Amino acid sequence: MLQLENIHKSFLGPTGAVPVLAGLSLVVQPGQLAVIEGPSGCGKSTLLFIAGAMSPPDKGTVQFDDVDPYALTPAARNRFRANRVGFVFQRFHLIPYLDVEANLRWPLRWCADPGKHIPRILELGERLGIRHRFAHRPAQLSAGEQQRVAIARALLGDKPLICADEPTGNLDDESAALVKDTLVQETRRGRIVLLVTHHKEWAAYSQVRVRLSSLTQGA
Ligand SMILES: Nc1ncnc2c1ncn2[C@@H]1O[C@H](COP(=O)(O)OP(=O)(O)OP(=O)(O)O)[C@@H](O)[C@H]1O
Ligand SMILES: [Mg+2]
Repeated sequence: MLQLENIHKSFLGPTGAVPVLAGLSLVVQPGQLAVIEGPSGCGKSTLLFIAGAMSPPDKGTVQFDDVDPYALTPAARNRFRANRVGFVFQRFHLIPYLDVEANLRWPLRWCADPGKHIPRILELGERLGIRHRFAHRPAQLSAGEQQRVAIARALLGDKPLICADEPTGNLDDESAALVKDTLVQETRRGRIVLLVTHHKEWAAYSQVRVRLSSLTQGA
């Protein structure tokens, strides 16, 4: 279970602190898809980073299966992320000098048993329509192809928590539907999927919905 309680986060802007999240709480059970919605700049990516053990909240707690990742040492938190969190970044963050296949293999080296995940590289490559681009580097891919590589990378390694930041933002309807089916399938395997999206049709597949609003817009 993923539990966020009373999360507060602000960033330092040019004229002082910019509050982004104030008192957010959220519980997501294994097998559930949680959709995070809200206008641009309201804190959706910030929330995903906090839930994905990448950015500590200023106040409040994060617990994943009774572990608070922010109470761990930095090295233990890195291991926690490597084994438990698959992250699709809004801006993909593929490694530019590695080809697609090497990008997919890269995070597996920190998993407990990397070898057992290798067959799934091919399976996900076929499923997401990027198998024919395995020898390409990220700059040689379209934005939608890069996005699908980022999704495949997050799904490798059987991580119990998948955080996906607008994973269909660059995709045509057919590819988006494929990604939706793939992520829903992950929840059926007992995973938690935290999804940021502007697409209303995801709501029908979600068990949890979080609607964020901007704390500072117009202020
Ligand atoms: N590292 C940072 N330093 C300063 N401000 C930040 C930082 N990260 C985010 N912010 C601010 O926090 C607010 C929320 O950003 P965030 O990226 O979470 O929004 P978002 O809801 O994901 O927006 P979008 O839909 O455009 O991706 C923004 O106003 C942004 O300027
Ligand atoms: Mg964002």
